[in-house]
Amino acid sequence: MGCQWVSMARETWATRLGFILAAVGSAVGLGNIWRFPWQTAENGGSAFLVVYLGIVLLVGVPGLLGEFVIGRRANKSPVGALRELSGSKRWGFVGAFSVITGLSLLSFYSVVGGWILRYLLESGAAVLGGNPAYFTNPGQYFGGVSAGTDAALFHLLFLGLTGLIVLAGIRKGIELGTKVMMPAVLVLLLALAGWAATQPNAAAGYAFFLRFDPSVITENFFAILGPAAGQALFTLSLGAGTMVTYSSYLGEDRSLPLDGSAIAVLNTSVGVITGLVVFPLLFSQGIDPTATGTGPGALFVGLAGAFSQLPAGTLIATTFFAVVTLAALSSSISMLEIPVAFLVDEYGVSRRAAVLGMAGIVAVTGTVCAFNPGIFSFVAGTLVNILLTTGLVAFLLFVGWVMGRDAIEEFSSGAGSLGRRLGTPWLFAVGVVLPLFLVFTLLTHFGVDTNIGFWPTVGLTVVASVAAFLGLRQPNSVV
Ligand code: PHE
Repeated sequence: MGCQWVSMARETWATRLGFILAAVGSAVGLGNIWRFPWQTAENGGSAFLVVYLGIVLLVGVPGLLGEFVIGRRANKSPVGALRELSGSKRWGFVGAFSVITGLSLLSFYSVVGGWILRYLLESGAAVLGGNPAYFTNPGQYFGGVSAGTDAALFHLLFLGLTGLIVLAGIRKGIELGTKVMMPAVLVLLLALAGWAATQPNAAAGYAFFLRFDPSVITENFFAILGPAAGQALFTLSLGAGTMVTYSSYLGEDRSLPLDGSAIAVLNTSVGVITGLVVFPLLFSQGIDPTATGTGPGALFVGLAGAFSQLPAGTLIATTFFAVVTLAALSSSISMLEIPVAFLVDEYGVSRRAAVLGMAGIVAVTGTVCAFNPGIFSFVAGTLVNILLTTGLVAFLLFVGWVMGRDAIEEFSSGAGSLGRRLGTPWLFAVGVVLPLFLVFTLLTHFGVDTNIGFWPTVGLTVVASVAAFLGLRQPNSVV
């Protein structure tokens, strides 16, 4: 180990745009299109949107830069990167956590990807004549295909496609794939948003999504915080090591602050545009997204219903599901790339064997999710929020306290003078402020604040953060 980079040139992105598009491709996905409306609906509509946007800006962007700094400094995926930069095995274990996160993410993601593929094929076949089967009774149809054998088979199909792209490698697979997929997603989404605006009762959807009501936020702030933070990390692909991995294929001449901001802006715009498609359509169908029981199916049931009412609905549905399939694939490949890069970097395994092995594991775990909606919802909601938040806290503590000055140097490399001046405040934010904030949101997620009160929770946050850090700090200490 450790020397294969000498014998084998590591892959890099071919172009700067290639990296940005791949990272945007990872960020833009079912998180924006499916999980976001679901979580927004479940957590108070526009109030959730505001808190979520705030976290994306104040935590997401600096956090993204934290992952970039680790990856580009080490030119390794998370396990090797943390171990090598710290000289401590213990940090290597923290990196290994991201392999588990990547596999967990893909386990449920691939099931949703499977649903999408199914709707795409169903709609595409109907373009030639007839109506897609889900037009007749969208709720019943979704109930029938969202769990069980059907769901498992389509999950395997989606996973197979993901595996094929990752197999082709960084330049020919991920970079080329996302270069084609991302612009297509943007153009089609904009067209759909324009069309959604013409639908009856679209205004009610905009109101739900955009009306800013400060009282909703102040009353529910702490209840919204955990899910909003989880969603902000999820949508930016943070805390899983994806961005560490992608930036490890990046040269020193790129400006990280610039690239990071571009990625966050693009991702957030797509999220908001998607909201402008989904919410007007749901309301035009008379579907209240906050009604209990809508849950993860809201997008499918609501939109399918909307499409069925429309002239040329089949064509629009096909377009929509094609967009979502592309967006989902450009994210799922980034999830699979985490464990694959781990095997390739750490054990010198061939890309092919790594893809087969890791996809093999997800074939099984995803099938479990496909058969059991309870497990599915737990993995897709709570577990993901917790894994990503914990993962990002670990990365940020690492940047702040283990890399320290090196992090600022890496942050500044390739950056303009403005970017360079931001280095020190940024390091303070990622080393101190953001970990405390994230640990706090984690505690609110478990309802700690409602049980013991606000200030005791703050105290516990500090104690937990310091303990986590001290536990990891000693290089090569007794395990
Ligand atoms: N950001 C992706 C999405 O919104 C999901 C993702 C999370 C991808 C974590 C990689 C790592 O769909």
